[in-house]
Amino acid sequence: MANTSNKQVYFIATIAAFGGLLFGYDTGVISGALLLIKTQFVSNGAHQMAPELQEWIVSVVLIGAMVGALVSGKLADRFGRKLIIIATSIIFIFGSAISGLAPDVTVIIIGRIIIGLAIGIASFTVPLYIAEISPKKIRGALVSLNQLAITIGIFVSYLIDLGFAETHEGWRWMFVIGIVPALILGIGMFFLPDTPRWLFSKGKDDQAILALEKTTPPDEIQHEMASIKQVLLSESKTKSGLSELLKPWLRPALIIGVGLMFFQQFTGINTVIYYSPTIFQIAGFQGDFAPILATTLVGIVNILMTVVAIWLVDKWGRKPLTYLGLTGMVMALTVLGIAFNQAEALGSSLKWISVGSVIVYIAFFAISLGPIAWLIISEIYPLKIRGIAMSIATFSNWLFNFIVAKTFLTLTKVLTIPGTEITGSSGVPESNPAGAFWLFALIGLGGIIFTYYYMPETKGHTLEEIEEHWVQGKAPRMLK
Ligand code: BGC
Repeated sequence: MANTSNKQVYFIATIAAFGGLLFGYDTGVISGALLLIKTQFVSNGAHQMAPELQEWIVSVVLIGAMVGALVSGKLADRFGRKLIIIATSIIFIFGSAISGLAPDVTVIIIGRIIIGLAIGIASFTVPLYIAEISPKKIRGALVSLNQLAITIGIFVSYLIDLGFAETHEGWRWMFVIGIVPALILGIGMFFLPDTPRWLFSKGKDDQAILALEKTTPPDEIQHEMASIKQVLLSESKTKSGLSELLKPWLRPALIIGVGLMFFQQFTGINTVIYYSPTIFQIAGFQGDFAPILATTLVGIVNILMTVVAIWLVDKWGRKPLTYLGLTGMVMALTVLGIAFNQAEALGSSLKWISVGSVIVYIAFFAISLGPIAWLIISEIYPLKIRGIAMSIATFSNWLFNFIVAKTFLTLTKVLTIPGTEITGSSGVPESNPAGAFWLFALIGLGGIIFTYYYMPETKGHTLEEIEEHWVQGKAPRMLK
């Protein structure tokens, strides 16, 4: 049964998760906005904007996110989690206003870079904040609320895009609407405490105890306080910078963080999130409506299966869900590859098999690597360098995301088997994406091996117990 502090902690985590909503909304909104922007800003009689410029409008957000993640880790350790999240909400508001009111493409790009910065910062400070306020028994569920918010944000952005698709200069609304969740985040966070862990680490004990009272069941407060203080005492020799992360005792934690982000991105999630209408068109769906409808279905499954993850992550644990998820993703990717490879023989059934496999794929991603990669990086780093360590893992997430997004269409050309080109609904022969899906499947198999050797089971442990595990120099998988 949820007691009062549990109810409060759910409320606090939900407010913070508006940062996740903005992450999802502002990465998702561009697909629809671009359709309008590319026909509005055209030069020299061309009927639409040059593809390279379109690509830039999409990808500058990812570059902004890399920079945002990288520069803000130290700030979160120094100035606190709460202040940085509030600052992020202000950056979101500015970025949305600038891109929504932009007189030309250059200003749109500047606005999108600013939004990217905010996304990069929010993507790790929110899980960090939530992990540090959570009681251990429900930490997995609470941190995963952030992933749920990401998936809802992506979905809402599709709906807003559809809603304004026919409006004159509708792209302005698509961007500007992002101000609403940013205001809720900023104003909401203003009234919430910083995390007890960060407050204790700065010697603000009175405020820390107040924060603990709001978030922790009464019978656990004394014990939590004692163990946080104990860890801080043993951390007195720990340096607060990046150099500490490279020391042998923390090397496994660094590998786990960057490794999980590698597998989260290189198993192809964002080829589905960013390109599924294209994939469905290649598979034979006609027009724009059917592929977009199928994409909406993918978005709904992503949300629903994240709810299942929230329900299971503290019961089954992180590792079983990751094994299950990766196995399902590998199977779906393999089938997707086979189906595209046999496109000619399958004829019109290809489109149904492709939608089915993409849905199975996203379902398994959503119960595993989606929430769990962000969860684990919020759990495995020592208090003193948690901000900076998470920012490194997060930077790698955005870098890998950028690489996959930039190379996917080229990859389908390079890895294609000659003679298997398919003529989708566009009527033009396209490179067959089978090879790219098989490559992602292979990487997924690597992910299963990585999980076995490298992933600790953090379920049911306090953050302080996890830290103690590294202090004792034990292998990651010995934490059970
Ligand atoms: C990933 C994003 C992805 C999203 C999809 C997140 O966990 O980091 O790259 O777009 O999940 O739901």
